[in-house]
Amino acid sequence: MISASDYDFLSRFLKIKSGLALSKDKQYLIESRLDPVLQKFGLPDMSRLVAQLRDAPPAPLVEAVVNAMTTNESLFFRDKSPFELLTATILPDLCRRRPAGQPLRIWCAAASTGQEPYSIAMLLQENARLLGGRKVEIIATDLSTEVIARAQQGIYNQFEVQRGLPVQYLLRYFKKNGELWQVSDDIRAMVRFSNLNLLQPFSHLGMFDIVFCRNVLIYFDIPTKAEILSRVAKVLTKDGYLILGGAETVLGISSDFVAGPQRGYYIQAAAGAAAPVAFRAAE
Ligand SMILES: C[S@@+](CC[C@H](N)C(=O)[O-])C[C@H]1O[C@@H](n2cnc3c(N)ncnc32)[C@H](O)[C@@H]1O
Repeated sequence: MISASDYDFLSRFLKIKSGLALSKDKQYLIESRLDPVLQKFGLPDMSRLVAQLRDAPPAPLVEAVVNAMTTNESLFFRDKSPFELLTATILPDLCRRRPAGQPLRIWCAAASTGQEPYSIAMLLQENARLLGGRKVEIIATDLSTEVIARAQQGIYNQFEVQRGLPVQYLLRYFKKNGELWQVSDDIRAMVRFSNLNLLQPFSHLGMFDIVFCRNVLIYFDIPTKAEILSRVAKVLTKDGYLILGGAETVLGISSDFVAGPQRGYYIQAAAGAAAPVAFRAAE
């Protein structure tokens, strides 16, 4: 059992390190997620873990606690519609606006185990004619060092490749290795993975035409969401696209973005007039 004061400490610690906003009743979550960390670091119980975290904790312990508390659920082509929109509207629009040959840049800001950026990479391969030879850079980042290491390998089990991935893509873009499937070298080479905490500066990544920031803001409180969104607006081109998760919104949180006509797609508020008609906010 975790004491009330240890729970308070861990909640504050996680909020500072990762932005995670835990409600008062998540004791079971902390206990179940951190139990493997206790085992790994040979700590007898939660109070010893908290004592270590309070007192100059070693970096690997902090990293293990932060990693363990992230929720990394992901799947290929999750929610389908953002990916349909990408090929039906977003890429054609951006290619029309950009000078021929100018590369496009896409950022997956909470890429987890890689299904999202690899879904995008496969779509780009499938729709190469849309790009007319233009290069697309896909940058995929995540707070958790564990998931980024997994994503880089691009190895998935049978269950994972059966979730959302069309079978023809599995056959075309994966190679089987025993019970596992690995994303082909070509597709892996299209994505650049790195660790990045959205609470920290990310302007060094450069400017992006499209930002996928899906199913991560839900874990943060409103001021944290607002602060991150205001910095996302600064790295998104004026006519760029922001794609959030199905349960996420900017409404009431950020005035930098306005909603498109479909849920989950946003454009820069300041550039409303520059946006394609289909994507201007309803007036
Ligand atoms: C539920 S997954 C979403 C994966 C993918 N975007 C999708 O929608 O399928 C949320 C991811 O956000 C990451 N995350 C949590 N806090 C973060 C932070 N402060 N900075 C960057 N990534 C974070 C987690 O490690 C986790 O992999």
